[in-house]
Amino acid sequence: MINDIKTVVLTEEEIKVIVKGIGEKITEDYKGKELVVVVILKGAMVFASVLIREIDLPLTIDCMVVSSYGKGTETSGVVKIIKDLNTSITGKHVLIIEDILDTGVTLSNLIELLNTRQPESIALCAMLDKPERRLCNVKLKYKGLSIPDEFIVGYGLDYDEKYRNLPYIGVLKEEIYK
Ligand code: IMP
Ligand code: MG
Repeated sequence: MINDIKTVVLTEEEIKVIVKGIGEKITEDYKGKELVVVVILKGAMVFASVLIREIDLPLTIDCMVVSSYGKGTETSGVVKIIKDLNTSITGKHVLIIEDILDTGVTLSNLIELLNTRQPESIALCAMLDKPERRLCNVKLKYKGLSIPDEFIVGYGLDYDEKYRNLPYIGVLKEEIYK
């Protein structure tokens, strides 16, 4: 797998430090409150599994599966809810955990949908941000790192469902997907 990576964006050690920092901020910001953590599968599963252990608050976890990408590296612009939440978020503080905020199409649609269920608050946390690519206005309350417009994999992020198990984050060589 390592031969398919052009450059490393974040090492395992760097990721650990970043995730710990985000967890501390969330713990501080939601002090005295209860959280519902919504993990967007599958991309955010690795990030979320580490992050929740850095949050020192009473919380529950629920998952959603949404899809906006096909096999390629560009969003299709259509967001499908493949698996909805199992629990009610009405009156709750909701924290969405995502792997990467790219065009924002997926998240803006998702936040709009979840807001109709009248949560007490709703905020977004993403490991990575590609601000250059934004098409929709989405507020990112917690973020690990802003990166340039390159296709990256690892730490939950995939290309064609592969590379999610890479323990670091790297830029995929163009010859793999071109
Ligand atoms: P958006 O709707 O364009 O913001 O798409 C967000 C989703 O696209 C993320 O949750 C990822 O699953 C996927 N995605 C966006 N950029 C990348 C990337 O560089 N590598 C892998 N997946 C990506
Ligand atoms: Mg994906």
